[in-house]
Order: sequence, then structure tokens, then C-alpha cells
Amino acid sequence: MPCSCEENKLDKYLEPLNKIFDKYTKDEKYLIPILQDAQDEYGYLPEEVLKEIACKLDLSLSQVFGVVTFYSQFHLEPRGENIIRVCTGTACHVRGGAEVLDQLKQELNIDSGETTEDLEFTLETVACIGACGLAPVIMINDDTYGRMNSKKVPEVLANYQK
Ligand code: FES
Repeated sequence: MPCSCEENKLDKYLEPLNKIFDKYTKDEKYLIPILQDAQDEYGYLPEEVLKEIACKLDLSLSQVFGVVTFYSQFHLEPRGENIIRVCTGTACHVRGGAEVLDQLKQELNIDSGETTEDLEFTLETVACIGACGLAPVIMINDDTYGRMNSKKVPEVLANYQK
């Protein structure tokens, strides 16, 4: 059975893929830029989207999954509007980074690597972000918060809560 991209009628949810496919010739060498554009469009890479991309490029779904899971830039689950990155590098760790991370988990009721149900926040850990003099450090989107401690967590989060 032909997939929907061959029938040239993507359902409404997949329609944004049309303009992405229009930008590239049908060649697997464009898989990564197509995935990047699709992730920009959807915020993550849902399975239906990956199926359409695989179909369009004459690849198997497992080949596409292989690429998506190889690169950490790609996400298979929805991501929060705000991405919190907690540094777990040595300087941050010895100055209490773990307590800050624990407080964030508690406040948001999620574990590291998870997203809140309301899709407001995703919590991640990262290696040294190059601001060791300010340890412990967290980033929320492009904002850096240095000399963090667990007591500051609620007020920092409040800047992003609706
Ligand atoms: S160890 Fe955290 S910023 Fe370097």
C-alpha cells in the first residue's frame, strides 16, 4: 500500500511537511536537514512524521530512527516550552548542583530528561557549560543563573511560569 506521501495527500497534521519537502530534492543526503526542519515545525519528531519522511526518501523507518537516535539534537518526545539545563560538571557538583537539581525535580514533579504534563518545562542535565566561576549554574533557555541554591529555585522558575 502506498504511503500518504506517494498519494500526494498528507493529512492536515502532516501538511507542514509539504513545504519542507519542497525545499529539498528526494535524496537521503538531505535526511538530517529535513529532520531538523521537521523538528523546528513540530517541536519534536512524532512517529507519523518520521514515517512520512522515510517514505518520501525511500528509506525504512528503522533507518530514519537510527539517525534520529544517534544525534542528541533530535527528540522523539514532546519538549517543554522552556528547557532547563542543570550543569553537573565537577565545579557545579561540588558546590551543590545536585541539591539544585533535586529541588527542580521536586518543584516540577518530573525527573531529569522529562517534560511537565503542561509542556511548560523540560529538565535536562548537561556537562560543564563553561561558567564554572558562577557554580552551581543552571540555564533556562538562553538565560544563565549562577551561584544557584535550592532556595532560589522557586523564584527563578516563577520568571517562566504563566
Ligand atoms: S562545571 Fe558547571 S559550569 Fe563548569
